[in-house]
Amino acid sequence: MTQPPPNLRRHDGTVLRADRERLLRQRGAVVWFTGLSGSGKSTVARAVEQLLTDQGHLVYVLDGDNIRHGLCRDLGFGAADRTENIRRIGHVAALFADAGIITLTAFISPFRTDRQQVRDIVGPDFVEVHVDAPLAVCEGRDPKGLYQKARAGQIPDFTGISSPYEPPEQPELRLRTGEQTLAESAAAVRDHLFARGVLTVSASKS
Ligand SMILES: Nc1ncnc2c1ncn2[C@@H]1O[C@H](COP(=O)(O)OP(=O)(O)OP(=O)(O)O)[C@@H](O)[C@H]1O
Ligand SMILES: [Mg+2]
Repeated sequence: MTQPPPNLRRHDGTVLRADRERLLRQRGAVVWFTGLSGSGKSTVARAVEQLLTDQGHLVYVLDGDNIRHGLCRDLGFGAADRTENIRRIGHVAALFADAGIITLTAFISPFRTDRQQVRDIVGPDFVEVHVDAPLAVCEGRDPKGLYQKARAGQIPDFTGISSPYEPPEQPELRLRTGEQTLAESAAAVRDHLFARGVLTVSASKS
């Protein structure tokens, strides 16, 4: 790992993360959706975003496509660039969580070591959610026509076809989107966050 530049020093103010969390009446967290293309990461993340926003929470979604057009536009899909993509997103997500925001990320993030790196960056507020639908189901959905292109050899390094997907061994949550409805998946995420205490923070200092 590269060393930080010399003569740089973190500058912390007097307002703490806990102060922001009291203001928002929630805990910052990173809900990291991982799974094959077409498994439903974006769809479930948007449903959770709506559900929690309706309940008065501050939520923000970082999604594969919008990040790759900006922050990570210089990166491709080879192994090294995928790793760098996830590292950058991990740091951004950690900053959002530090701001007190419930941050939902929707990236295939196929490699276990990359996800572990983000877990290390974010710390205890990292919630890994495996959006788990069989390849055949994802390929049958093919909402962006990507599997068809990948099968035709038009997309190199396509996860599940010509590049591996390493499923999480112990995710905090597993959503079987091939079997359960979107509403059931979104409710399962909300219930998990509630059980972790993310959704309930007292407005007064204890
Ligand atoms: N139970 C379900 N949960 C989530 N999505 C579902 C479900 N049933 C069907 N779908 C459909 O599956 C598709 C999932 O596509 P989505 O773009 O969310 O996948 P993704 O994991 O974000 O893929 P990518 O990695 O390519 O961005 C959508 O068209 C959605 O409507
Ligand atoms: Mg998506």
